Amino acid sequence: MAKNQDAQMLDIHIEDYLAEYEMGIAGFDTMLFDRGRKAESLNGQWHYAVDQYDTCLRQKWFLEKNRDAKGFTLPTDYSFDEWPLMYLPCCWNTAAPEYLLYEGPMVFTRRFEYEPVREGERVFLKIGAANYVCRVFVNGSYAGMHRGGSTPAYFEIGKYLQRDNRILIVADNTRRPAQVPPENTDWFNYGGIYRDIELFRVPADYIKDFQIELVPDGTFGSVSARVTVSGKADAAAVLSIPELGIREEIPVSGGRGAVTLKAEPELWSPENPKLYEVSLECMGDRVSDRVGFREIRVKGRQIFLNGQPIFLRGVSAHEDSVKDGKALTDAERVENIRIAKELGCNFMRAAHYPHSERMAQLADELGLLLWEEVPVYWAIRFEREDTYRDAENQLSELILRDYNRASVIIWSVGNENLDSDERLKFMGGLAERAHELDQTRLVSAACLVNGAHNRIEDRLEKYLDVIGLNEYCGWYSPDFASLPDLLENSDPEKPVIITEFGADALAGHHGTVSDKGTEECQAYVYERQTAVLRTIPYIQGMTPWILYDFRCPRRTSSLQRYYNTKGLCSADKTYKKAAFYVLQKFYREVAENN
Ligand code: GCU
Repeated sequence: MAKNQDAQMLDIHIEDYLAEYEMGIAGFDTMLFDRGRKAESLNGQWHYAVDQYDTCLRQKWFLEKNRDAKGFTLPTDYSFDEWPLMYLPCCWNTAAPEYLLYEGPMVFTRRFEYEPVREGERVFLKIGAANYVCRVFVNGSYAGMHRGGSTPAYFEIGKYLQRDNRILIVADNTRRPAQVPPENTDWFNYGGIYRDIELFRVPADYIKDFQIELVPDGTFGSVSARVTVSGKADAAAVLSIPELGIREEIPVSGGRGAVTLKAEPELWSPENPKLYEVSLECMGDRVSDRVGFREIRVKGRQIFLNGQPIFLRGVSAHEDSVKDGKALTDAERVENIRIAKELGCNFMRAAHYPHSERMAQLADELGLLLWEEVPVYWAIRFEREDTYRDAENQLSELILRDYNRASVIIWSVGNENLDSDERLKFMGGLAERAHELDQTRLVSAACLVNGAHNRIEDRLEKYLDVIGLNEYCGWYSPDFASLPDLLENSDPEKPVIITEFGADALAGHHGTVSDKGTEECQAYVYERQTAVLRTIPYIQGMTPWILYDFRCPRRTSSLQRYYNTKGLCSADKTYKKAAFYVLQKFYREVAENN
């Protein structure tokens, strides 16, 4: 290569080209409380290019540098505004058949106009979710990056804005061993910017976070609220809950304020999903939320909701849609909740990663308790500090995002992880982080059976409030006798939720109970499982695997055809398999006896 070759061509010899983008990292500490704020949507048609070799970042396309030092026009390998269009948010896998299996970087860009409204206003860009890494550029400047495929990212971009703007985002869903989740999972690796893209304008000093809850002291008679404002401002915030006759000043010092008030709100529950309009004003800024007040606690081996013992009649669900991948519409989420309630559920395990914030908001409104989870799944690189930071950040983002959601009662720090000292340190640390950020909810994990002793026994239990257990007696462990043995052989000190049991069944495929893959076989597993589980007092709930079939590249048999078919319903949720009715009958009996 001639030594005076233009600098633009040197990119082909630079392999650590990503190093310069390991800054401006959006995380839990850059989040903005956005409930009740006016959102300016950037959803819509974006130009895009499939960028398998990450050439946009290597060659810095975002600079739009098309002339050399002498002013000669340079050849460019992109043409942003001539690229084809894709409607965002979406998963590119379902946007076009040629992208179904694409994994790698994709570049999205659009223009938008901006006019300041308020003197000194600050502007935040929110990406509801992009899987797995996204890097953001505004008018050629690097605005930052976010790691984590299911939690929101906020970037302050006001300083880059002019009247006419170009935004460019590189989203990369490449699976990597050190990521969370790692390369190998039992679900489909959708890619894209698949939740809303919005702008929020805030005053120079603004409300950064706002948390409110019923004080979990068993009296149901106090409400606590905390506010964090930008900077270290001293100010006075005003909390309003009109229906409770509350309008209370919260003194803010050094950027933080808190108050605990006597109040006796009507308690939120799945049967009575009562929500209150709540608002907070401070320094000319205002946020609001619709909040349910409830208490979730553990005493001994029981779980109590609002002081009453509760059996969590649940089901697991992936965030998966035949038509839209992870980018479900509200209509599809509402339908999923409706089907779960038709099944007799008061509880759902949103596996294995944070579902959309819309899920928790809808669960608040429609009355469904939620288990929310970070994708610390299977063979995480527990020994890696960067992997831990990624996991802890995703957990922190999830907790801060959904803190005011009454429906969320359990934070889960992972699923099916082999015991090791590194894993114990890693997941114990996550459990401690969850307890540090939230003293009002329970912390759990979906643990494996201790195969050596056929017991419910996991060193992680000491960090958990509730023990989740995945067991597949009658399926992966074909001998049904192993289930009563396991349960009689166990003596957990805390409540147990059976977080997975189930069996594959192709919808409409019939045979005998011994024929794997038939509805009869799946229904028989549910009959045998529920017959045993109902007899065990320390089992306080279950979330069988799973409400509906979901895309899964690991499942290739003629009965699965790249779907995990353990669903109680077909993937499009229009067909209920026989096992649906077995579980529905069981839950009806449980509800009558509770
Ligand atoms: C595992 C895992 C799930 C998986 C399921 C299955 O327990 O937690 O993610 O889909 O079993 O094998 O179907």
